Amino acid sequence: MIKFNSYYNNYSNQKILVTGGAGAIGSNLVKILLDNNANVTVIDNLSSGSKDNLDMKSNNLTFIEGDINNVDALDIALSENPAYVFHLAANFANQNSVDHPFDDMNTNIGGTIKLLELLKKNENLRRFIYTSSSCVYGQASVIIDEFTPIDLSTPYSISKLTAEYYVNYYQNFCKMPTTILRYFNSYGPGEHSGAYRNVIPNFISLALNKQPLPIYGDGSDKRCFTYVTDICNGTLLSAATDASISKTLNIGSSNEVSIINLANLINELTCNQSPHVFLPRRQWDHIHQRLPSCKMAEDLFSYTPSHSFEAGLAKTINWFKSTNLY
Ligand SMILES: NC(=O)c1ccc[n+]([C@@H]2O[C@H](COP(=O)([O-])OP(=O)(O)OC[C@H]3O[C@@H](n4cnc5c(N)ncnc54)[C@H](O)[C@@H]3O)[C@@H](O)[C@H]2O)c1
Repeated sequence: MIKFNSYYNNYSNQKILVTGGAGAIGSNLVKILLDNNANVTVIDNLSSGSKDNLDMKSNNLTFIEGDINNVDALDIALSENPAYVFHLAANFANQNSVDHPFDDMNTNIGGTIKLLELLKKNENLRRFIYTSSSCVYGQASVIIDEFTPIDLSTPYSISKLTAEYYVNYYQNFCKMPTTILRYFNSYGPGEHSGAYRNVIPNFISLALNKQPLPIYGDGSDKRCFTYVTDICNGTLLSAATDASISKTLNIGSSNEVSIINLANLINELTCNQSPHVFLPRRQWDHIHQRLPSCKMAEDLFSYTPSHSFEAGLAKTINWFKSTNLY
């Protein structure tokens, strides 16, 4: 049970919608909300999420298996006029969008607009949180704050940014209380391995099977990985803070690690002795470093990620082992 702090009282007994709530981040968010006595509705088409990520027996959880492009399903999801809407449903992520650009556009832009249109008539809405991505900063090689120039290299980065513009439109012209969060590389329990998933679950799954870890390029690229409950904490704090209305905020961590060190660490923690394989870079992937500044979130609601990388990784590996699904 996670009861972070007094801000979370905002959610007790509130009606809350989480789109994509069966996914990697959404399911962790739902768990924290249920632990804090919220009444949560999830809409998810299970394209990349799983009901196994959710406590389906909870009396405070309503699960709707449906697509955010289906207005009838969305209408049902919104029928109780939720006070908070956390919009996490998305076609995830870069490589998926390169392979399926239309699906990417359809869900990430089209589904977001359908949701926002229906929300216009919800007078109870206290906050709409849109979860965008650090990929909108592309190859920026500086410490990335929210004013770093945009640099788009994949359909996913284009769709995530375009939906931000729509959110700003509904904020500015329909007076909807919105906040945009740009997440930086989440990892943790709830995210399985898969063709379109992130590097950490894919490395862990291979390593537990004593397989070589594939490294695109020479492994010197660095990323800052953020443990999923830290991402959720930032998300919930942002929605509970009035000063973050209309803001676009980075949510990440400064746990910077190179891909080669990540691979070595995961092999060490799983006793995998297979040597890595080095593969050519993917065409769109030229991002050597992505180091966020989260000062705005820190100033607005004291956002501080609390997990060290080693502790988060150990928890994630233990979760993988407990699922037997690797
Ligand atoms: N994981 C990361 O590192 C990361 C980084 C930056 C931004 N984000 C953003 O955070 C959000 C959550 O990411 P995640 O890692 O949990 O992804 P995820 O793929 O695990 O979760 C997305 C969920 O949305 C559902 N979904 C997809 N299309 C849908 C549709 N059309 N209708 C209804 N449900 C649909 C999926 O089944 C899944 O459960 C996404 O918006 C993503 O763009 C994630």
